[in-house]
Amino acid sequence: MQTQTLSVSRGSQFATDVCAGLSKPGQKELPSKYLYDEVGSALFEVICALPEYGLTRAEERLLQQHAREIVDQLPRPVVVAELGSGTGRKTRLLLEALSRWQSTWYHPIEISPTALAVCRRELRDINSISIVGFEREYLDGLREVAARRVNSEHLLVLFLGSTLGNFDGSAGAEFLSELRQILQAGDSLLLGTDLRKPLDVLVPAYDDALGVTAAFNRNLLARVNSELGGDFNLSQFAHQAVFNPRTHSIEMHLRSRISQTVNIAEAGLAFRFGEDETIWTESSHKYSREELYQLAQLTGFRCQSQWIDSEWSFAENLWIAE
Ligand code: TRP
Repeated sequence: MQTQTLSVSRGSQFATDVCAGLSKPGQKELPSKYLYDEVGSALFEVICALPEYGLTRAEERLLQQHAREIVDQLPRPVVVAELGSGTGRKTRLLLEALSRWQSTWYHPIEISPTALAVCRRELRDINSISIVGFEREYLDGLREVAARRVNSEHLLVLFLGSTLGNFDGSAGAEFLSELRQILQAGDSLLLGTDLRKPLDVLVPAYDDALGVTAAFNRNLLARVNSELGGDFNLSQFAHQAVFNPRTHSIEMHLRSRISQTVNIAEAGLAFRFGEDETIWTESSHKYSREELYQLAQLTGFRCQSQWIDSEWSFAENLWIAE
């Protein structure tokens, strides 16, 4: 049993990204990767337990039912890399299935040190699993994992929770193509994707009655305040989740309730907000099954298997690099 984390300093990248996003002409934005600090990660865990947010439970059910079937389709020996470590609950199901037939290296790749620590704590009791986490951007971490493998080893990349859907527009396909370049033919990608569903189910999943998702979204502003000396008045920004039928995405925004100016001391800058002007923080794309088959082809993969939950339309996809 071995656990360790390799980390790099990111300096004031946060300040740079925040200022670039808030200075954009037209739609202001804040990058969603900063949602997951300690508070954000804890709130996201609560979101996953909310009755309105069926996505995580759907994926857990799929992995509970099919983990063995999934790992039995993989070439051996296999090294596992996960993009975004989550809490480890879903990953456990796969690692336990794998540990039946081999001892396994597991590499969570995650920019949040808090999330990495939680994942390590959650999974360290599984027999014959060695965990080495990478505190890196997804593809940088994956490149390191790929560089360390020995010839006979196959890679299984986990990209769960429909995080792919949080890439905007064609960025998802570009990301997968880049990811494919890092892999060798025969490596596998297990991809969790949320599917299209009726709006009366979809919208509340991103705008729950308790207001947890609203708090999760507004936490971005709280982070700017505490880490960059911002003076956002959180109560003057409302959480908004709107479905965009053109892109089949739920868009998360923070809407300024009044016209106001916000200062960010660290940047030495002030930003003006009109009444009802929004900051776009995240989109979550909802896939169709055909779209997923095409996406696999377009990005250099073959769809080997797909499992769909019967309660919440969500698909787990096993793709093989061609
Ligand atoms: N990958 C998750 C999703 O698309 C992330 C998420 C869930 C999220 N709820 C959110 C992101 C609310 C921002 C705001 O469903």
